[in-house]
Amino acid sequence: MIVKTHNSLKKQLKSIQLKSKTIGFVPTMGALHKGHLSLMQQAVNENDVLVVSIFVNPTQFNNQDDLEKYPRAIEKDYALIKKEFNDATILVYTPSVQDVYGENVHSNSYQYNGLEKVMEGANRPGHFDGVGTILEFLFKVVQPDKAYFGEKDYQQLQIVKKLVQKLALPVKIIGCPIKREENGLAMSSRNERLSKSTRKEAAIIYKILKDARRYIKNNSISKTIQMVENKFAQLPNFELEYFTINRESDLKPAIRKSKNTALRAFIVVHVEGVRLIDNLALDL
Ligand code: PAF
Repeated sequence: MIVKTHNSLKKQLKSIQLKSKTIGFVPTMGALHKGHLSLMQQAVNENDVLVVSIFVNPTQFNNQDDLEKYPRAIEKDYALIKKEFNDATILVYTPSVQDVYGENVHSNSYQYNGLEKVMEGANRPGHFDGVGTILEFLFKVVQPDKAYFGEKDYQQLQIVKKLVQKLALPVKIIGCPIKREENGLAMSSRNERLSKSTRKEAAIIYKILKDARRYIKNNSISKTIQMVENKFAQLPNFELEYFTINRESDLKPAIRKSKNTALRAFIVVHVEGVRLIDNLALDL
């Protein structure tokens, strides 16, 4: 069932909460793909009721053009959810900007112990304040037992864990592995904006991440970064925004390899005006 306002969502959820049913929550910005569906499937498996929100949150976009071009397909999204799952146990919340923000579309500011200072936080000013603002609102309305996030946005996942810890919200944050297209490209709503041929070519991003995972076994971190930068320098259609190797624990850039410190490679690439992100755990 679709609900369009947070008040009607709260009303629907009240009877569910009274029956002590567990609520799984998958927040999305729509243009749903198999990655989202796998989060929903896990939520359905682990909870009595699934709530999905579909809302392109304006305050997390630092680029107006990106916000305007973000794919929107509410009818298609809803049809997909209905086809995949039993409608009786699913609430789809599709609010307007007004329902979430009223007349004052702005974000609160959050500190996430420095997790917000690197990568997406450094390159997209205000992004994680926008994410924190919408998720605080949604968590307070939905009051889920568990909420599900993809590891494609690995930094976001760590930040959401920190957010609920700081706000003492009683929700368990579950991270789920990246879903990939057949050619290895990480699934993303933004892939919709790529031409067919570029979507094929974009498989190179994951391929180079895997090259880096191999290469770092016998080379230093800085050499691995250099190798990746050299590869992208030879691909004129792909503009590398950043490639970085950071510690999984606190997301700080890794200086040297150590068997006891889990590292992860993070990448952002622009192609055909679309910003694509991906990451891969490294085994040293
Ligand atoms: O990952 C996303 O799609 C968004 O950042 C989220 C978590 C739905 C908040 O708007």
